[in-house]
Amino acid sequence: MNINNLKEKIGQTVTIGAWIANKRSSGKIAFFQLRYGAGFIQAVALKENLGEERYQELRHLTQETSIRVTGEVKENNRELTGIELEISDFEVISVSTDYPITPKDHGVEFLADNRHLWIRSKKQHALLTIRNQIIKSTYDFFEKEGFLKLDPPILTSSAPEGTTELFHTKYFDEEAYLSQSGQLYMEACAMSFGKVYSFGPTFRAEKSKTRRHLIEFWMIEPEMAFCNHDESLEVQEKYVNYLINDVITKNELQLKILERDIESLKAATGTFPRIKYKDAINLLKENGFDDIEYGDDFGSPHETFIANSYNKPVFITHWPKAIKPFYMKEDPNEPGTVLCADLIAPEGYGEIIGGSQREDNYDILLENIKAHELNIEAYNWYLDLRKYGSVEHSGFGLGLERTVSWITGNGHVRETIPFPRLLNRLTP
Ligand code: 4AD
Ligand code: MG
Repeated sequence: MNINNLKEKIGQTVTIGAWIANKRSSGKIAFFQLRYGAGFIQAVALKENLGEERYQELRHLTQETSIRVTGEVKENNRELTGIELEISDFEVISVSTDYPITPKDHGVEFLADNRHLWIRSKKQHALLTIRNQIIKSTYDFFEKEGFLKLDPPILTSSAPEGTTELFHTKYFDEEAYLSQSGQLYMEACAMSFGKVYSFGPTFRAEKSKTRRHLIEFWMIEPEMAFCNHDESLEVQEKYVNYLINDVITKNELQLKILERDIESLKAATGTFPRIKYKDAINLLKENGFDDIEYGDDFGSPHETFIANSYNKPVFITHWPKAIKPFYMKEDPNEPGTVLCADLIAPEGYGEIIGGSQREDNYDILLENIKAHELNIEAYNWYLDLRKYGSVEHSGFGLGLERTVSWITGNGHVRETIPFPRLLNRLTP
Protein backbone atom coordinates (compact mmCIF):
# COMPACT_ATOMS: atom_id res chain seq x y z
CA MET A 1 0.00 0.00 0.00
CA ASN A 2 1.21 3.49 -0.78
CA ILE A 3 0.98 5.28 2.52
CA ASN A 4 2.70 8.48 1.50
CA ASN A 5 -0.44 10.48 1.96
CA LEU A 6 -2.39 9.13 4.90
CA LYS A 7 -4.60 12.21 4.85
CA GLU A 8 -6.35 10.81 1.81
CA LYS A 9 -7.31 7.77 3.91
CA ILE A 10 -9.51 9.52 6.50
CA GLY A 11 -12.28 7.13 7.55
CA GLN A 12 -10.38 4.08 6.31
CA THR A 13 -8.62 1.36 8.27
CA VAL A 14 -4.98 0.96 7.30
CA THR A 15 -2.05 -1.20 8.36
CA ILE A 16 1.34 0.49 8.40
CA GLY A 17 4.86 -0.41 9.38
CA ALA A 18 6.28 2.12 11.82
CA TRP A 19 8.70 2.92 14.64
CA ILE A 20 7.77 4.36 18.01
CA ALA A 21 9.35 7.80 18.07
CA ASN A 22 7.77 9.01 21.28
CA LYS A 23 4.96 8.07 23.66
CA ARG A 24 2.99 9.10 26.70
CA SER A 25 0.21 7.23 28.42
CA SER A 26 -2.10 6.94 31.37
CA GLY A 27 -4.10 4.03 32.69
CA LYS A 28 -6.67 4.24 29.93
CA ILE A 29 -5.23 6.05 26.92
CA ALA A 30 -1.82 6.05 25.24
CA PHE A 31 -0.47 8.49 22.61
CA PHE A 32 2.36 7.63 20.29
CA GLN A 33 4.33 9.53 17.72
CA LEU A 34 4.88 6.95 15.02
CA ARG A 35 7.36 7.38 12.20
CA TYR A 36 6.07 5.47 9.22
CA GLY A 37 8.73 6.34 6.68
CA ALA A 38 7.00 9.05 4.73
CA GLY A 39 6.31 11.03 7.90
CA PHE A 40 5.10 11.07 11.48
CA ILE A 41 1.60 10.47 12.75
CA GLN A 42 0.04 10.58 16.17
CA ALA A 43 -1.52 7.25 17.11
CA VAL A 44 -3.95 6.74 19.95
CA ALA A 45 -4.62 3.50 21.81
CA LEU A 46 -7.55 3.06 24.13
CA LYS A 47 -7.59 0.35 26.76
CA GLU A 48 -11.28 -0.22 26.18
CA ASN A 49 -10.57 -1.11 22.54
CA LEU A 50 -7.50 -3.32 23.02
CA GLY A 51 -8.27 -4.97 26.35
CA GLU A 52 -6.10 -4.80 29.46
CA GLU A 53 -3.29 -7.16 28.42
CA ARG A 54 -2.71 -5.88 24.86
CA TYR A 55 -3.02 -2.29 26.03
CA GLN A 56 -0.32 -2.79 28.69
CA GLU A 57 1.94 -4.53 26.18
CA LEU A 58 1.60 -1.68 23.69
CA ARG A 59 2.05 1.13 26.15
CA HIS A 60 5.27 -0.35 27.49
CA LEU A 61 6.95 -0.71 24.11
CA THR A 62 10.21 1.20 23.98
CA GLN A 63 11.36 4.05 21.76
CA GLU A 64 12.33 2.91 18.21
CA THR A 65 10.67 -0.48 18.58
CA SER A 66 9.35 -1.41 15.15
CA ILE A 67 5.73 -2.42 14.86
CA ARG A 68 3.00 -3.04 12.38
CA VAL A 69 -0.15 -1.20 13.42
CA THR A 70 -3.70 -1.33 12.18
CA GLY A 71 -6.15 1.45 12.84
CA GLU A 72 -8.59 3.96 11.48
CA VAL A 73 -7.28 7.25 10.12
CA LYS A 74 -9.23 10.05 11.78
CA GLU A 75 -9.32 13.78 11.33
CA ASN A 76 -7.60 15.71 14.15
CA ASN A 77 -7.08 19.38 13.53
CA ARG A 78 -4.95 19.88 16.64
CA GLU A 79 -2.22 17.88 14.90
CA LEU A 80 -0.01 19.58 12.28
CA THR A 81 -0.75 16.63 10.02
CA GLY A 82 -4.50 17.12 10.51
CA ILE A 83 -4.94 13.41 11.23
CA GLU A 84 -4.34 10.68 13.77
CA LEU A 85 -4.55 6.90 13.85
CA GLU A 86 -6.79 5.07 16.28
CA ILE A 87 -5.05 1.77 16.91
CA SER A 88 -7.17 -1.36 16.78
CA ASP A 89 -4.40 -3.92 16.47
CA PHE A 90 -0.61 -4.16 16.44
CA GLU A 91 2.22 -6.61 15.98
CA VAL A 92 5.69 -6.10 17.42
CA ILE A 93 8.44 -6.67 14.86
CA SER A 94 11.65 -5.90 16.73
CA VAL A 95 12.12 -4.51 20.21
CA SER A 96 14.60 -1.67 20.59
CA THR A 97 16.58 -1.37 23.80
CA ASP A 98 18.38 1.68 25.20
CA TYR A 99 18.00 3.90 22.13
CA PRO A 100 20.63 6.58 22.73
CA ILE A 101 18.75 9.63 21.41
CA THR A 102 16.01 10.23 23.97
CA PRO A 103 13.48 13.07 23.86
CA LYS A 104 15.72 15.14 26.18
CA ASP A 105 18.30 17.60 24.79
CA HIS A 106 21.62 16.22 23.57
CA GLY A 107 24.82 18.02 22.62
CA VAL A 108 25.41 18.42 18.92
CA GLU A 109 28.63 16.37 18.91
CA PHE A 110 26.78 13.46 20.48
CA LEU A 111 24.06 13.79 17.86
CA ALA A 112 26.65 14.00 15.08
CA ASP A 113 28.32 10.82 16.38
CA ASN A 114 24.90 9.20 16.12
CA ARG A 115 23.99 10.72 12.76
CA HIS A 116 22.86 7.28 11.51
CA LEU A 117 20.13 7.45 14.18
CA TRP A 118 19.71 11.23 14.38
CA ILE A 119 18.21 11.26 10.86
CA ARG A 120 15.19 9.49 12.41
CA SER A 121 14.19 12.56 14.43
CA LYS A 122 11.30 14.75 13.34
CA LYS A 123 13.34 17.85 12.58
CA GLN A 124 15.99 15.97 10.59
CA HIS A 125 13.24 14.13 8.76
CA ALA A 126 11.66 17.46 7.77
CA LEU A 127 15.01 18.95 6.66
CA LEU A 128 15.91 16.00 4.48
CA THR A 129 12.40 15.83 3.03
CA ILE A 130 12.80 19.44 1.88
CA ARG A 131 16.26 18.61 0.49
CA ASN A 132 14.56 15.95 -1.62
CA GLN A 133 11.95 18.47 -2.81
CA ILE A 134 14.65 20.95 -3.84
CA ILE A 135 16.38 18.22 -5.84
CA LYS A 136 13.11 17.27 -7.51
CA SER A 137 12.20 20.91 -8.21
CA THR A 138 15.65 21.37 -9.75
CA TYR A 139 15.07 18.53 -12.21
CA ASP A 140 11.58 19.89 -12.99
CA PHE A 141 12.81 23.44 -13.52
CA PHE A 142 15.67 22.59 -15.85
CA GLU A 143 13.60 20.16 -17.82
CA LYS A 144 10.92 22.83 -18.34
CA GLU A 145 13.62 25.28 -19.41
CA GLY A 146 14.96 22.86 -22.00
CA PHE A 147 18.23 21.81 -20.32
CA LEU A 148 19.80 18.39 -20.65
CA LYS A 149 21.27 16.80 -17.53
CA LEU A 150 24.73 15.37 -18.04
CA ASP A 151 27.19 14.05 -15.49
CA PRO A 152 30.78 15.27 -15.30
CA PRO A 153 33.50 12.96 -13.94
CA ILE A 154 34.38 12.92 -10.26
CA LEU A 155 38.00 11.87 -10.73
CA THR A 156 39.74 14.63 -12.67
CA SER A 157 43.06 16.13 -13.61
CA SER A 158 41.85 19.75 -13.52
CA ALA A 159 41.36 22.25 -10.71
CA PRO A 160 38.79 24.88 -11.71
CA GLU A 161 38.53 26.56 -8.32
CA GLY A 162 42.21 26.86 -7.41
CA THR A 163 44.85 24.40 -6.36
CA THR A 164 44.86 24.97 -2.62
CA GLU A 165 41.73 23.03 -1.70
CA LEU A 166 42.18 19.85 -3.70
CA PHE A 167 41.73 16.30 -2.55
CA HIS A 168 44.62 14.44 -4.08
CA THR A 169 44.44 10.81 -5.00
CA LYS A 170 46.44 8.37 -7.08
CA TYR A 171 45.02 7.43 -10.46
CA PHE A 172 47.27 4.46 -11.13
CA ASP A 173 50.55 6.22 -11.88
CA GLU A 174 49.03 9.64 -12.35
CA GLU A 175 48.06 12.34 -9.89
CA ALA A 176 44.30 12.95 -9.76
CA TYR A 177 41.87 15.07 -7.76
CA LEU A 178 38.31 14.69 -6.60
CA SER A 179 36.19 17.16 -8.55
CA GLN A 180 35.80 20.65 -7.06
CA SER A 181 33.28 21.55 -9.75
CA GLY A 182 32.00 19.97 -12.93
CA GLN A 183 31.99 23.32 -14.72
CA LEU A 184 34.78 22.83 -17.25
CA TYR A 185 33.18 19.61 -18.46
CA MET A 186 29.77 21.23 -18.58
CA GLU A 187 31.24 23.93 -20.83
CA ALA A 188 32.25 21.18 -23.23
CA CYS A 189 28.74 19.70 -23.01
CA ALA A 190 27.15 23.12 -23.65
CA MET A 191 29.07 23.36 -26.93
CA SER A 192 27.32 20.16 -27.98
CA PHE A 193 23.88 20.40 -26.38
CA GLY A 194 23.37 24.15 -25.84
CA LYS A 195 21.78 24.18 -22.38
CA VAL A 196 23.00 21.57 -19.90
CA TYR A 197 23.32 21.06 -16.16
CA SER A 198 24.97 18.70 -13.78
CA PHE A 199 24.08 17.72 -10.27
CA GLY A 200 26.66 15.86 -8.29
CA PRO A 201 29.00 15.69 -5.34
CA THR A 202 31.96 18.06 -5.24
CA PHE A 203 34.89 18.11 -2.85
CA ARG A 204 36.89 20.87 -1.22
CA ALA A 205 39.69 20.24 1.21
CA GLU A 206 38.82 23.48 2.96
CA LYS A 207 40.19 23.91 6.44
CA SER A 208 37.06 25.87 7.32
CA LYS A 209 34.96 25.00 10.31
CA THR A 210 31.95 27.21 9.74
CA ARG A 211 28.21 26.74 9.56
CA ARG A 212 28.44 27.02 5.76
CA HIS A 213 31.28 24.71 4.84
CA LEU A 214 31.17 21.05 4.03
CA ILE A 215 34.09 19.07 2.68
CA GLU A 216 31.77 17.13 0.39
CA PHE A 217 28.76 19.01 -0.92
CA TRP A 218 26.35 18.72 -3.84
CA MET A 219 26.26 21.30 -6.56
CA ILE A 220 23.86 22.05 -9.42
CA GLU A 221 25.84 23.48 -12.33
CA PRO A 222 23.98 24.78 -15.38
CA GLU A 223 25.94 25.93 -18.41
CA MET A 224 24.49 27.78 -21.41
CA ALA A 225 25.91 28.44 -24.86
CA PHE A 226 25.01 31.71 -26.62
CA CYS A 227 24.28 33.23 -23.22
CA ASN A 228 25.81 36.32 -21.66
CA HIS A 229 26.20 37.16 -18.01
CA ASP A 230 22.98 39.18 -17.68
CA GLU A 231 20.96 36.41 -19.30
CA SER A 232 22.52 33.94 -16.88
CA LEU A 233 21.49 36.11 -13.91
CA GLU A 234 17.91 35.94 -15.16
CA VAL A 235 18.02 32.14 -15.21
CA GLN A 236 19.47 32.12 -11.69
CA GLU A 237 16.75 34.41 -10.41
CA LYS A 238 14.01 32.36 -12.05
CA TYR A 239 15.47 29.10 -10.69
CA VAL A 240 15.76 30.31 -7.09
CA ASN A 241 12.23 31.73 -7.26
CA TYR A 242 11.01 28.38 -8.54
CA LEU A 243 12.66 26.52 -5.66
CA ILE A 244 11.19 28.79 -3.00
CA ASN A 245 7.69 28.68 -4.46
CA ASP A 246 7.80 24.89 -4.80
CA VAL A 247 8.92 24.35 -1.21
CA ILE A 248 6.33 26.80 0.12
CA THR A 249 3.53 25.00 -1.71
CA LYS A 250 4.71 21.40 -1.34
CA ASN A 251 6.37 21.36 2.08
CA GLU A 252 3.98 23.33 4.24
CA LEU A 253 4.04 20.62 6.92
CA GLN A 254 7.84 20.38 7.05
CA LEU A 255 8.21 24.18 7.17
CA LYS A 256 5.79 24.22 10.12
CA ILE A 257 7.73 21.47 11.91
CA LEU A 258 10.89 23.52 11.40
CA GLU A 259 9.08 26.71 12.51
CA ARG A 260 10.33 28.45 9.40
CA ASP A 261 9.16 32.04 9.02
CA ILE A 262 7.33 31.64 5.71
CA GLU A 263 6.66 35.37 5.31
CA SER A 264 10.36 36.16 5.09
CA LEU A 265 10.74 33.37 2.52
CA LYS A 266 7.90 34.81 0.44
CA ALA A 267 9.47 38.26 0.72
CA ALA A 268 12.67 36.81 -0.76
CA THR A 269 11.01 36.09 -4.12
CA GLY A 270 10.77 38.39 -7.14
CA THR A 271 13.62 40.37 -8.67
CA PHE A 272 16.93 40.19 -6.84
CA PRO A 273 18.96 43.39 -6.42
CA ARG A 274 22.27 43.54 -8.30
CA ILE A 275 25.08 45.51 -6.72
CA LYS A 276 28.67 45.93 -7.79
CA TYR A 277 31.49 44.59 -5.65
CA LYS A 278 33.01 48.07 -5.31
CA ASP A 279 29.71 49.47 -4.04
CA ALA A 280 29.44 46.58 -1.58
CA ILE A 281 32.92 47.46 -0.29
CA ASN A 282 31.87 51.10 0.11
CA LEU A 283 28.69 50.06 1.90
CA LEU A 284 30.75 48.00 4.34
CA LYS A 285 33.26 50.77 4.94
CA GLU A 286 30.51 53.34 5.53
CA ASN A 287 29.14 51.01 8.15
CA GLY A 288 32.26 50.65 10.19
CA PHE A 289 33.94 47.63 8.61
CA ASP A 290 37.58 48.71 8.53
CA ASP A 291 38.87 45.14 8.12
CA ILE A 292 38.16 45.04 4.37
CA GLU A 293 39.73 46.75 1.34
CA TYR A 294 39.00 46.71 -2.37
CA GLY A 295 40.54 43.45 -3.57
CA ASP A 296 39.64 41.37 -0.51
CA ASP A 297 37.18 38.50 -0.54
CA PHE A 298 34.21 38.78 1.82
CA GLY A 299 34.06 36.91 5.08
CA SER A 300 30.83 35.74 6.72
CA PRO A 301 30.26 38.98 8.70
CA HIS A 302 30.56 41.01 5.47
CA GLU A 303 28.16 38.79 3.57
CA THR A 304 25.73 38.84 6.45
CA PHE A 305 25.82 42.63 6.69
CA ILE A 306 25.20 43.07 2.97
CA ALA A 307 22.41 40.49 3.02
CA ASN A 308 20.76 42.17 5.99
CA SER A 309 20.61 45.42 4.05
CA TYR A 310 18.04 43.71 1.80
CA ASN A 311 15.31 41.15 2.42
CA LYS A 312 16.01 39.35 -0.85
CA PRO A 313 18.96 37.44 -2.19
CA VAL A 314 21.49 39.92 -3.62
CA PHE A 315 23.75 39.51 -6.65
CA ILE A 316 27.22 40.95 -6.10
CA THR A 317 28.72 41.58 -9.54
CA HIS A 318 31.96 42.92 -11.04
CA TRP A 319 34.51 41.29 -8.76
CA PRO A 320 38.20 42.11 -9.20
CA LYS A 321 39.74 39.73 -11.72
CA ALA A 322 42.63 39.04 -9.33
CA ILE A 323 40.52 37.20 -6.75
CA LYS A 324 38.41 35.12 -9.11
CA PRO A 325 39.19 31.91 -11.06
CA PHE A 326 41.06 31.88 -14.38
CA TYR A 327 38.06 31.05 -16.55
CA MET A 328 36.01 34.21 -15.91
CA LYS A 329 35.67 36.77 -18.69
CA GLU A 330 36.89 40.29 -18.08
CA ASP A 331 34.23 42.97 -18.45
CA PRO A 332 35.28 45.08 -21.46
CA ASN A 333 33.36 48.02 -19.96
CA GLU A 334 35.06 47.76 -16.58
CA PRO A 335 38.55 46.37 -17.11
CA GLY A 336 40.04 44.76 -14.05
CA THR A 337 36.67 43.28 -13.10
CA VAL A 338 35.08 40.06 -14.33
CA LEU A 339 31.57 39.27 -15.56
CA CYS A 340 30.54 37.26 -12.57
CA ALA A 341 28.18 37.28 -9.61
CA ASP A 342 27.83 35.70 -6.22
CA LEU A 343 24.27 35.37 -4.99
CA ILE A 344 24.08 36.06 -1.26
CA ALA A 345 21.06 34.65 0.54
CA PRO A 346 19.17 36.77 3.05
CA GLU A 347 19.21 36.22 6.83
CA GLY A 348 22.91 35.43 7.04
CA TYR A 349 22.99 32.14 5.11
CA GLY A 350 25.83 33.31 2.89
CA GLU A 351 26.69 32.72 -0.76
CA ILE A 352 24.44 30.16 -2.41
CA ILE A 353 25.45 30.69 -6.06
CA GLY A 354 28.71 31.52 -7.78
CA GLY A 355 28.51 32.13 -11.53
CA SER A 356 30.10 33.92 -14.45
CA GLN A 357 30.43 34.45 -18.15
CA ARG A 358 33.36 32.34 -19.33
CA GLU A 359 36.41 33.58 -21.21
CA ASP A 360 35.76 32.53 -24.82
CA ASN A 361 38.94 33.88 -26.43
CA TYR A 362 41.69 31.28 -26.92
CA ASP A 363 44.66 33.60 -26.41
CA ILE A 364 43.31 35.32 -23.31
CA LEU A 365 42.31 32.01 -21.75
CA LEU A 366 45.77 30.59 -22.40
CA GLU A 367 47.32 33.66 -20.74
CA ASN A 368 45.03 33.22 -17.73
CA ILE A 369 45.98 29.56 -17.38
CA LYS A 370 49.64 30.50 -17.45
CA ALA A 371 49.13 33.37 -15.00
CA HIS A 372 47.48 30.96 -12.57
CA GLU A 373 50.42 28.58 -12.98
CA LEU A 374 48.17 25.71 -13.96
CA ASN A 375 49.45 22.69 -15.83
CA ILE A 376 48.60 23.48 -19.47
CA GLU A 377 48.66 19.81 -20.45
CA ALA A 378 45.58 19.21 -18.31
CA TYR A 379 43.70 22.09 -19.96
CA ASN A 380 44.40 21.50 -23.64
CA TRP A 381 41.02 19.91 -24.14
CA TYR A 382 39.40 22.91 -22.41
CA LEU A 383 41.30 25.30 -24.69
CA ASP A 384 40.01 23.32 -27.69
CA LEU A 385 36.52 24.61 -26.88
CA ARG A 386 37.84 28.08 -27.86
CA LYS A 387 39.43 26.76 -31.05
CA TYR A 388 36.46 25.10 -32.66
CA GLY A 389 33.50 27.44 -32.86
CA SER A 390 33.90 29.34 -29.62
CA VAL A 391 30.77 31.16 -28.47
CA GLU A 392 29.72 33.44 -25.65
CA HIS A 393 28.64 31.23 -22.76
CA SER A 394 27.82 31.47 -19.08
CA GLY A 395 26.94 29.25 -16.17
CA PHE A 396 26.72 28.99 -12.43
CA GLY A 397 26.87 26.64 -9.49
CA LEU A 398 24.25 26.48 -6.75
CA GLY A 399 25.31 24.80 -3.51
CA LEU A 400 22.51 22.44 -2.52
CA GLU A 401 23.19 22.30 1.22
CA ARG A 402 23.48 26.06 1.66
CA THR A 403 20.26 26.50 -0.26
CA VAL A 404 18.48 23.90 1.87
CA SER A 405 19.91 25.58 4.95
CA TRP A 406 18.51 28.95 3.95
CA ILE A 407 15.11 27.76 2.72
CA THR A 408 14.53 25.63 5.81
CA GLY A 409 15.89 28.31 8.14
CA ASN A 410 18.34 25.82 9.61
CA GLY A 411 21.54 27.47 10.69
CA HIS A 412 24.07 24.74 9.94
CA VAL A 413 24.77 22.93 6.67
CA ARG A 414 25.69 19.73 8.51
CA GLU A 415 21.99 18.98 9.06
CA THR A 416 21.02 19.45 5.43
CA ILE A 417 22.83 16.38 4.09
CA PRO A 418 22.27 12.82 5.38
CA PHE A 419 25.91 12.14 6.29
CA PRO A 420 27.98 15.34 6.43
CA ARG A 421 31.70 15.31 5.77
CA LEU A 422 33.26 17.99 7.94
CA LEU A 423 36.79 19.00 8.83
CA ASN A 424 36.95 16.52 11.70
CA ARG A 425 34.27 14.08 10.73
CA LEU A 426 34.36 11.10 8.40
CA THR A 427 32.16 8.80 10.54
CA PRO A 428 29.40 7.75 10.39
O1 4AD B 1 31.49 29.69 -5.89
P1 4AD B 1 31.92 28.29 -6.23
O2 4AD B 1 33.25 27.84 -5.75
O3 4AD B 1 31.76 28.17 -7.79
C1 4AD B 1 32.14 27.12 -8.57
O4 4AD B 1 32.56 26.06 -8.18
C2 4AD B 1 31.85 27.33 -10.04
N1 4AD B 1 32.74 26.47 -10.80
C3 4AD B 1 30.41 27.03 -10.31
C4 4AD B 1 30.05 27.22 -11.76
O5 4AD B 1 30.08 28.35 -12.25
N2 4AD B 1 29.66 26.16 -12.43
O6 4AD B 1 30.83 27.28 -5.63
C5 4AD B 1 29.49 27.40 -6.01
C6 4AD B 1 28.58 27.25 -4.81
C7 4AD B 1 28.76 28.31 -3.72
O7 4AD B 1 28.04 29.47 -4.05
C8 4AD B 1 28.20 27.61 -2.51
O8 4AD B 1 26.79 27.64 -2.51
C9 4AD B 1 28.62 26.19 -2.72
O9 4AD B 1 28.87 26.02 -4.11
N3 4AD B 1 29.84 25.86 -1.97
C10 4AD B 1 29.83 25.15 -0.83
N4 4AD B 1 28.84 24.60 -0.11
C11 4AD B 1 29.16 23.93 1.01
N5 4AD B 1 30.42 23.76 1.44
C12 4AD B 1 31.46 24.30 0.76
N6 4AD B 1 32.69 24.10 1.19
C13 4AD B 1 31.19 25.03 -0.43
N7 4AD B 1 31.95 25.66 -1.36
C14 4AD B 1 31.11 26.15 -2.28
MG1 MG C 1 32.07 31.31 -4.80
